[in-house]
Amino acid sequence: MSRVTHMAILGGRANEVLTRSVAGAMDMDPVQCTVENFPDDELRIEIHENLRGRNVYIFQPFGPPVAERILECLLLADASRRAGAAKVVGVVPYLGYARQDRRAYGREPVSVRLVADLLSNRFDRIVSIDVHNAAMEGFFSVPLEHLSAVPLLVKKLQPVVMDDSIIVAPDLGAVKLAERYAHALDLPVAYIHKIRTSGEDVSVRRIIGDVQDRFPIIIDDMISTGGTIASAFQALSERGCRQEMIIAASHGLFAGNAVKRLAELPVRKIFVTDSIYHATSDIPLPLEVVGLDIILAEVIQRLDDAGSLSEYLFHQ
Ligand code: R5P
Repeated sequence: MSRVTHMAILGGRANEVLTRSVAGAMDMDPVQCTVENFPDDELRIEIHENLRGRNVYIFQPFGPPVAERILECLLLADASRRAGAAKVVGVVPYLGYARQDRRAYGREPVSVRLVADLLSNRFDRIVSIDVHNAAMEGFFSVPLEHLSAVPLLVKKLQPVVMDDSIIVAPDLGAVKLAERYAHALDLPVAYIHKIRTSGEDVSVRRIIGDVQDRFPIIIDDMISTGGTIASAFQALSERGCRQEMIIAASHGLFAGNAVKRLAELPVRKIFVTDSIYHATSDIPLPLEVVGLDIILAEVIQRLDDAGSLSEYLFHQ
């Protein structure tokens, strides 16, 4: 009979820095493995340590290039299973494809459902953070531990909040998230009704709430191209808000022209977590990156010890 002797931390290429810092916080080293591309671009994975009987935690956020990161993660899980791992847990701090959770028009896939099926096929459990829509837990046939970075971001916001600050949900999907921030910071909240017009652009239909002379703190689950933030700020300005803002988002993808777009706006500070790796010194923005390592290390330890995760879970 095999006995679980220890856990193993394994990482794909998406965020090796985060994998190392979580492992470091647990006084461990990530498992040695090779992840590379063959000349024809196929992926090649090889794990260089014995995983037999171990609980393996595979770290891989699904940032760009998203499809390759997903496949890499699945191949790592497959290799771990075949190597005799007792349990394989996917730690996917940012769940790419989560926005594609319904058919907005005809003849589209429900893409995140497919991603959830693929993950559920290879993992015993998934851990993720501030997933775009909490209801998508139902797409997974294995348990999804849905954590939240909001308490970490709230701690960063506390010292910069002013009497005239207002939390702004830049779209209706962010309403519940905004209410959590507003409650934690004891601030009023305004909501924006946004329509997406393309992958990069959105248009604002209306604002609910009085933003006149208020200092906006725009919150969101993610910043991708920055289009949502840019149109939210333009609409808020037209309603007389103060000409500066703070942004807080769990996942900073900064795709496409996001950096240029945000650099043209009067941003005092942007808080994001390190779910997506960036060499921050290359980003000319007032960015403050909040580390997820301590929380992830604690959550993994508790998963391994059958401890409670309630204080870290996303609550509506
Ligand atoms: C959308 O519903 C999300 O919550 C974000 O608002 C959106 O994905 C951000 O994308 P972008 O920065 O490209 O506007």
